Amino acid sequence: MTILEDQFAGKTAPSVKPQKARGTAPAFFSAWDLHSYYGESYIVQGVSFDVREGEILALLGRNGAGKTSTLRTIARMDDPNLTHGEIWLDHQPLHDMKSYQASRVGVGLVPEDRRIIPGLTVQENLELSQIAEPKGWSIDRIYDHFPRLAERRLQEAVTLSGGEQQMLAVARILARDIKLFLLDEPYEGLAPVIVQEIERILEGVKELGITTIIVEQNAIAALHLADRAVILDMGEVVFDGTAQEVLDNAELRQEYLAI
Ligand SMILES: Nc1ncnc2c1ncn2[C@@H]1O[C@H](COP(=O)(O)OP(=O)(O)OP(=O)(O)O)[C@@H](O)[C@H]1O
Ligand SMILES: [Mg+2]
Repeated sequence: MTILEDQFAGKTAPSVKPQKARGTAPAFFSAWDLHSYYGESYIVQGVSFDVREGEILALLGRNGAGKTSTLRTIARMDDPNLTHGEIWLDHQPLHDMKSYQASRVGVGLVPEDRRIIPGLTVQENLELSQIAEPKGWSIDRIYDHFPRLAERRLQEAVTLSGGEQQMLAVARILARDIKLFLLDEPYEGLAPVIVQEIERILEGVKELGITTIIVEQNAIAALHLADRAVILDMGEVVFDGTAQEVLDNAELRQEYLAI
């Protein structure tokens, strides 16, 4: 099945990797047969999937399955090093780019540690996101959307609560003009009530039509937000289908997600 056929079929059968037909125009985002290494350690072992424009894809799997490594490969970080495969975003090849170039063409990664810059206020963190063109939302629009950040605009950002730091991390991405939003464990370390608040923010991002890949240990929460799901195990895709299929399939969840 080609990626193009897969696009029309709406899903791929479990354990069947999508095949790409050369020369066809794949989905808005497409990862094809990615292989990447940390030094000698072979981690991402032939990962392929695609995401349609405006869709949210949950990238799931147990600890060490390769989720963060896959996101870092897509964002074109130096580690892990991509040795084979293609990555396309809105007809642009990311596989030959460095991370700063991928960022320029619209890849926005919020890593697990959220990368809040110490010594800077909330406002300065937001302004820093807008140093490089193309800009996204204005700071005023961000404050309208995130009143908590507006209240804390002059506070040093590292002193924000975990939930507020996650809001700032999302806001910094919106301050840039992005095409692909990559989120690594946005709910990690947050109290359930704050998780709900971040969920509402991400639902708002979804309504904006931003194409998103979310990695989350809280798989059920991610699946409720997502349209589709890809499950990784030992660096390979073991499931590619709709989020609802994973929610409905207790056996699959037990085997690969232990939930
Ligand atoms: N910098 C590194 N150097 C060498 N190996 C690494 C490095 N980072 C991760 N790995 C290994 O790569 C594999 C995949 O790790 P990765 O962080 O991508 O998993 P993950 O699915 O994000 O897991 P988690 O749910 O724990 O965040 C693991 O075996 C891990 O030990
Ligand atoms: Mg991880």
